[in-house]
Amino acid sequence: MKAVRYHGAGDVRLEQLPVPDPGPGELQLRVATVGICGTDAGEFVHGPRFHPVDTAHPHSGHSGPTIPGHEFSGWVSGVGDGVTGFTEGDMVAVGAGVSCSTCPPCRKGHTNLCQEYWTVGLHSNGGLAESAVVPASCTFNLSNSAITPDLAAMTQPMSIALHATRRGRVVEGDLVTVLGVGGIGSFIVHAAAEAGTTVTAVDLEPARLDTAARLGAASTLDVSAPGPDQLLNDDRASVVFECTGRPDSLLRALQLVADGGRVVVVGHQPEPVAVDFREIALDELEIIGTQAHVFAQDFPRAVDLIAADPGAWAEVAPTVYPLDQVLQVGLIPMAKGESPQIKVLFDPSSDAPRPLRTEN
Ligand SMILES: NC(=O)c1ccc[n+]([C@@H]2O[C@H](COP(=O)([O-])OP(=O)(O)OC[C@H]3O[C@@H](n4cnc5c(N)ncnc54)[C@H](O)[C@@H]3O)[C@@H](O)[C@H]2O)c1
Ligand SMILES: [Zn+2]
Ligand SMILES: [Zn+2]
Repeated sequence: MKAVRYHGAGDVRLEQLPVPDPGPGELQLRVATVGICGTDAGEFVHGPRFHPVDTAHPHSGHSGPTIPGHEFSGWVSGVGDGVTGFTEGDMVAVGAGVSCSTCPPCRKGHTNLCQEYWTVGLHSNGGLAESAVVPASCTFNLSNSAITPDLAAMTQPMSIALHATRRGRVVEGDLVTVLGVGGIGSFIVHAAAEAGTTVTAVDLEPARLDTAARLGAASTLDVSAPGPDQLLNDDRASVVFECTGRPDSLLRALQLVADGGRVVVVGHQPEPVAVDFREIALDELEIIGTQAHVFAQDFPRAVDLIAADPGAWAEVAPTVYPLDQVLQVGLIPMAKGESPQIKVLFDPSSDAPRPLRTEN
């Protein structure tokens, strides 16, 4: 099979590999559509931080060159021993986070905080290939859903967005600001708007702000031009999602949130950020972390939300590319902040770019 393999920073190759067989508890998938995100671009430039290239991962057991891709859909082509609920030909989406189900956080339902958590496509081989093998426990069966394989590849980032909005305890009527409407922030805009909040989307790129408006933002703000911070003058948001990963944007989030409000830290800053905790105390602010998603709670809702408005996603990922363009349209531009579209998707079975399919 054709597969993209990560060997180290700057060293990603398109290779021919044997099709992997499913072990007990696993499914073999023929990959339909696979997306990449900022984490994959970060591995490409600064890694390996997640991919266990040199040492076996303690929980996945994988070591050596790694096939990235943790946002993907496919058709079941093989069912391992002990797997129930899946048959060959079923269309599925991969949640990617694998948890043990027995440790204290898992027993409390916090499977995303599992003491043995690992992610398909980061700590093991993932979906940037014609075939993949994944644990059935992190795979969602879509055989009864009308969602297309292309849209199904976007359910994992939507699940992350829904988890973030749950962490932020957004409720109808809240004023919400989303800083950075890229591959995660644009999904948070949609999830928060669907929850009945009034969303302001903030970014440096006008085209991304237009897409945020299509996804439900009531207003948008381009912060690329220097000048006074308009967000400090307007009605302050009760919940701010920091989705850029920029230290200055995190500090801005703490400045612009209303007293008594919540800042959800979605982005990962490249270095620690100094924060004046006296201000946090005086203004009764809450700083809330969010990590991936809880598969059982967030993933089914993510599927429903993406399927409810298929046309909205055509602006997020208008084109689906062949696997051999993973460097030129995917990892290299994304690492430079010059991604051609908000979500970059690949179809391992296609030889040329094609439009996103939103209808079956
Ligand atoms: N907490 C989690 O579970 C989780 C999951 C996935 C990704 N992340 C993190 O979220 C962050 C965003 O990931 P992504 O895939 O959306 O990246 P992305 O590059 O697609 O999006 C970032 C967006 O921020 C905008 N931006 C940059 N600087 C800005 C500024 N100063 N003000 C306003 N907008 C600005 C960019 O134009 C872009 O649209 C990353 O740090 C990533 O590691 C966290
Ligand atoms: Zn991701
Ligand atoms: Zn666990």
